[in-house]
Amino acid sequence: MDITNLIDEALEKISRASAPDILESVRIEYLGRNGQITKLLRSIGSLPSDQRSEAGQEANAAREKVEAALTEQFSRIAHQPKKSKIDTTLPGIRPLRGAFHPVRQVIQDARAVFRRLGFEFVEGREVETEFHNFTALNIPLDHPSRDAFDTFYTKGKNLLRSQTSTVQIRVMETRKPPLRIIAPGRVYRPDTVDASHSFMFHQIEGLLVDDRSTFSDLKGVINLFLRQFFGKNVKSRFRPHFFPFTEPSVEVDMSCILCGGKGCMTCKRTGWLEIMGAGMVDPAVFQSVGYPSGKYRGFAFGMGVERIAMLRHGIQDIRLFYENDLNFLRQFS
Ligand code: PHE
Repeated sequence: MDITNLIDEALEKISRASAPDILESVRIEYLGRNGQITKLLRSIGSLPSDQRSEAGQEANAAREKVEAALTEQFSRIAHQPKKSKIDTTLPGIRPLRGAFHPVRQVIQDARAVFRRLGFEFVEGREVETEFHNFTALNIPLDHPSRDAFDTFYTKGKNLLRSQTSTVQIRVMETRKPPLRIIAPGRVYRPDTVDASHSFMFHQIEGLLVDDRSTFSDLKGVINLFLRQFFGKNVKSRFRPHFFPFTEPSVEVDMSCILCGGKGCMTCKRTGWLEIMGAGMVDPAVFQSVGYPSGKYRGFAFGMGVERIAMLRHGIQDIRLFYENDLNFLRQFS
């Protein structure tokens, strides 16, 4: 090949080499041990003596040119920043911020109110015995709530608790009054799932036992809770009711937080919302946990957590709580 063409070809390849390893292979191609320019230089000795000097000068000039071009190109590409796949000009990805589930938020807020009233937080268990869910709570053997249509039974005569009142028994079995506890947690009932029913939901149980508390203490504690939780203008109403484990028993209504008691769709135009069951602990319950008869007095209450969360946020369908839909849940963070 003509030497000028060889130089042009080499310079062209050098100028296109975009990375040091490509440049190195170009160097080897021309200046390596078997490189084209090296071969050229080596062949000079075999030329007739009158041609050697000129050919030698040409070949040396070619080598110098190519070497200079290699050095220059190397310093150009070596200092170039590596092409990165990360585009640092794009906006960053915001890390997701976690938040408590609206059901858990109600539990924590209620817990904070009851803590100020001296109530201790305890947890029971979800798989329970018939004794703790029914018998010790004075629920007779033929009571319909014991039916398999109303309670999930597990193998071996246990069950999934259908109310957190079980925790009243668990606590009294192991401890002596004075007691002031609240116990939130899951309960299970084989209800057909619809907008207001779920086979699993949450309750908050409260229990106070000492030797002097009265029904007015029960009213006082519940009124304080309702006002601190829902706002100071909330009114309450205690309607006579029946629970086997309290006597007397009541259902507690509060003035509708949506219409202020005037009557709306949520309170079915009554101005009132049913919010919990409550009552003075029945002596039969004290007896079943082995407390001496006549020594203690106390009251208990139980409320549904989902219902409170639904009222609080104006949620119409209980199923939304269990779908893990972040578009729904993010509204409460
Ligand atoms: N356990 C009752 C229920 O699930 C509520 C309740 C609790 C009533 C404590 C009175 C006392 O309906």
